[in-house]
Amino acid sequence: MPDAPTTAPSILHERRALLHGAAALASLALAPAAIPSALAQQPLPKVPYVTTPQAIVDRMLSMAQVGRNDVVYDLGCGDGRIVISAASKYGARGVGIDLDPERIREATANARAAGVQDRVRFRQGDLFRSDFSPATVVMLYLLFEVNLQLMPQLWRQLRVGARVVSHDFHMGAQWPPEQIVRVRDKTLYAWTITEELKQELRQELRQELR
Ligand SMILES: C[S@@+](CC[C@H](N)C(=O)[O-])C[C@H]1O[C@@H](n2cnc3c(N)ncnc32)[C@H](O)[C@@H]1O
Repeated sequence: MPDAPTTAPSILHERRALLHGAAALASLALAPAAIPSALAQQPLPKVPYVTTPQAIVDRMLSMAQVGRNDVVYDLGCGDGRIVISAASKYGARGVGIDLDPERIREATANARAAGVQDRVRFRQGDLFRSDFSPATVVMLYLLFEVNLQLMPQLWRQLRVGARVVSHDFHMGAQWPPEQIVRVRDKTLYAWTITEELKQELRQELRQELR
């Protein structure tokens, strides 16, 4: 059934259970605080350049309820279409980051062609070495393993209330999405950074330091 948003009813309860449940830990073989160091040992797969179709871009922006006060980051921005659409359709500001300098040149030219060059910036760099703390919305089209490695950085850097939307890849059982939307053969996932999540992260870090 395409296009029907589903909001998990007891997501908080579910997430707690998943974070603390023995079954979840057995299946994941990782405690939440262990994610960064454990995954840091593994080489990540290379994320290929594949663009998000415009209809899916539009749906991602509406899932995040992007408005003119938002700062939308696309981590791995490709040709810049997501932040350019956020600026041209909703008047938001945006930042795109990509490893590939060719993508950055293309995105910068596309922003100029769309007349939103004053509202968006593109910079070449590794998203894992980037500060995206000004973001109120983060868009992702990466891979599952990359999302998992990025998750603790999202929790740390983003403010409470920030939204994260991912095209096709979720974050595993450690961070179940609040919304799952199916559009044709695509699946989109959305999360919000909550105060509870921040507190849990601080607690986990304190325990790890003991
Ligand atoms: C699947 S494409 C998505 C492009 C765009 N976000 C979209 O949805 O149309 C993934 C992009 O992420 C970039 N990328 C992969 N790993 C990256 C990293 N570590 N840091 C920054 N960009 C990265 C790739 O160069 C590629 O352009």
